[in-house]
Amino acid sequence: MTCLIHIESSPRKEKSISSQVAAAFIQEYKNSHPDDELKHIDLWNLDMPDLDDKLISAHRATIKGKAVDSTSLKLWKKTEKLIKDFKSADKYLFSVPMWNFSIPYKLKHYLDLIVQEKYTYDFKDGSFQGLITGRPAVMIYARADIYEESEDMQKNYMEKILRFIGFENFISIFVEPNSHGEDFRQKAILLAKNIAKDF
Ligand SMILES: Cc1cc2nc3c(=O)[nH]c(=O)nc-3n(C[C@H](O)[C@H](O)[C@H](O)COP(=O)(O)O)c2cc1C
Repeated sequence: MTCLIHIESSPRKEKSISSQVAAAFIQEYKNSHPDDELKHIDLWNLDMPDLDDKLISAHRATIKGKAVDSTSLKLWKKTEKLIKDFKSADKYLFSVPMWNFSIPYKLKHYLDLIVQEKYTYDFKDGSFQGLITGRPAVMIYARADIYEESEDMQKNYMEKILRFIGFENFISIFVEPNSHGEDFRQKAILLAKNIAKDF
């Protein structure tokens, strides 16, 4: 069964513009793909361990087949589960607010946990290779201002890190400048519904 996963990174629930556009996308997706499975990860209600020395050491020991102490192993198993859940989908929907020109720290924390050698990327024959391939992603970017491509550290960062782990195919929806009126939100919702039909 085809699975779509939504990674939600705004804490603002129904007040969140990126989440509202994602909800419109999902509603239309359900109508046009009634047999697909839908998963949802709310990054503000997800138990994410600190990426500290214990966790980094546990990952390094694990991929080298070395022993790991029980506390660190517990933390690493938790991280492995986060990675497994992330990798379990065929299609991805990310709703991303801009925070201080970049992304919310919970999303950065999540990405830092799931971007792990031998799990989501590898280093082979002198180069890095992403291990999550052939999966399209719809990216919803909400921000209060308009940004030139070259200074867009929200979209550019998301694409850079997702490409690093193997993603290649992105469809971007921008909700900007959302401080200037309702019009932009409605346009983004319409666009999201159109994209969802054939995604
Ligand atoms: C902590 C914080 C930082 C923000 N930083 C920026 C910013 O650097 N540039 C910008 O254009 N908007 C910024 N905004 C505005 C948000 O991007 C905008 O309100 C957006 O709608 C948030 O997405 P959401 O409604 O899905 O939560 C910021 C908002 C917050 C709460």
